[in-house]
Amino acid sequence: MNKPEVVMMGLGYIGLPTAALIAQNNTHVHGVDINPKVVETINAGKIHIIEPELDLAVANAVKGGFLKAAISPKKANTYLIVVPTPFKGKNEPDISFVEAATKAVLPLLKENDLYIIESTSPVGTTEKMMGLIYSQRPELEGKLFIAYCPERVLPGNVMYELVHNDRVIGGVNQASTEKAVAFYKRFIKGELHKTNARTAEMCKLVENSSRDVQIAFANELSLICDKADINVWELIALANKHPRVNILQPGCGVGGHCIAVDPYFIVSDYPMESQIIGKAREINNYKSFWCAEKVQTAKLQFEIQHGRKPSIAIMGLAFKPNIDDLRESPAKYIAQKVLQNANNEEYFIVEPNIHEHKVFKLTPYQDAAEKGDIIVFLVAHKEFKTLKLKKDKMVLDFCGVLND
Ligand SMILES: NC(=O)c1ccc[n+]([C@@H]2O[C@H](COP(=O)([O-])OP(=O)(O)OC[C@H]3O[C@@H](n4cnc5c(N)ncnc54)[C@H](O)[C@@H]3O)[C@@H](O)[C@H]2O)c1
Repeated sequence: MNKPEVVMMGLGYIGLPTAALIAQNNTHVHGVDINPKVVETINAGKIHIIEPELDLAVANAVKGGFLKAAISPKKANTYLIVVPTPFKGKNEPDISFVEAATKAVLPLLKENDLYIIESTSPVGTTEKMMGLIYSQRPELEGKLFIAYCPERVLPGNVMYELVHNDRVIGGVNQASTEKAVAFYKRFIKGELHKTNARTAEMCKLVENSSRDVQIAFANELSLICDKADINVWELIALANKHPRVNILQPGCGVGGHCIAVDPYFIVSDYPMESQIIGKAREINNYKSFWCAEKVQTAKLQFEIQHGRKPSIAIMGLAFKPNIDDLRESPAKYIAQKVLQNANNEEYFIVEPNIHEHKVFKLTPYQDAAEKGDIIVFLVAHKEFKTLKLKKDKMVLDFCGVLND
């Protein structure tokens, strides 16, 4: 391969599609991942994650010589950091992967290079990394371009959204912002909005916190309506007839690796100020616990009414409808909690989007709906909407699948 122009640190759900997109534009990308299996797979022109159209993009990029993977970086002009930013301890953001990736590229940096973090990061991370770089390479101080540009793609539609979504780009100074904008302009059709690094970092966290708070409002309504004997879905549909009201739908909690995670990056740094954001996390977590308790109560009611133990169908494990992703899934949490409380009842666990699971024995959704006495809807998968349930079933619909 020619000397790479771009080094991509991290070849996961975001880094690999981004690397493929850049390579598709005839730009040489040196992709780096600490996982040798990932490197081997990509260099064979294959992919290790599920994402539509990514397989072809990677195969072409590797075949055309524009994408090559390795376990360590090389000299280039632009360095993108797209590594995980998980939790540690009590919901504290862990930026050690960003730090490690930065340390790996540090010795390679030269004057006029562009360094961009895309990983979802606590406010101040880009400045912190700038401090780290300049402490080790003082001769480069003020001579690099350093920026933050968060990613907001939807898994399942990444290859389209990478190109067409608007992006927020914030440099540590004006020149860095301009340089980063010029870089992304080569690959992205969406609008590129300029700001500073701190605002761009906060923007990503706020987007997901905003969704979390709005869902918490809907979930809180569902708890109130349950006590008040009101159908929450009918209520929300009616309230949304107001021209300036738009309440989201309640569910069995909030999951996934973004909305259920990113708000903690704000709460942990601004605990006194982020009252609603913190409370929203609590409400959405509590909703899952409440659903599990409701199942427990329904079991007891059934036993009193029928003089025998019920069979229970748990419908859905994914963190949202029509996907196979169980990360941080509230439905999975509820299923686990319900099974922990099992007392010789029969359980049918359903997830139509996966074939098998290492913990749960899965049952086809039609069989579970037929055999279960209590049908617990946790995820509004499209398959469940087609079910014709017998009248004698006890139904707990936590996701409004029957109200569509
Ligand atoms: N997946 C999404 O939908 C999504 C959306 C928006 C933002 N993000 C953010 O993007 C970032 C990356 O997420 P992802 O989903 O791609 O993660 P991922 O876990 O799929 O991929 C990260 C990759 O980085 C590699 N890695 C770890 N440390 C490394 C290092 N020091 N050097 C090189 N490679 C290293 C890992 O082996 C892994 O393959 C995270 O901050 C995430 O919050 C993700």
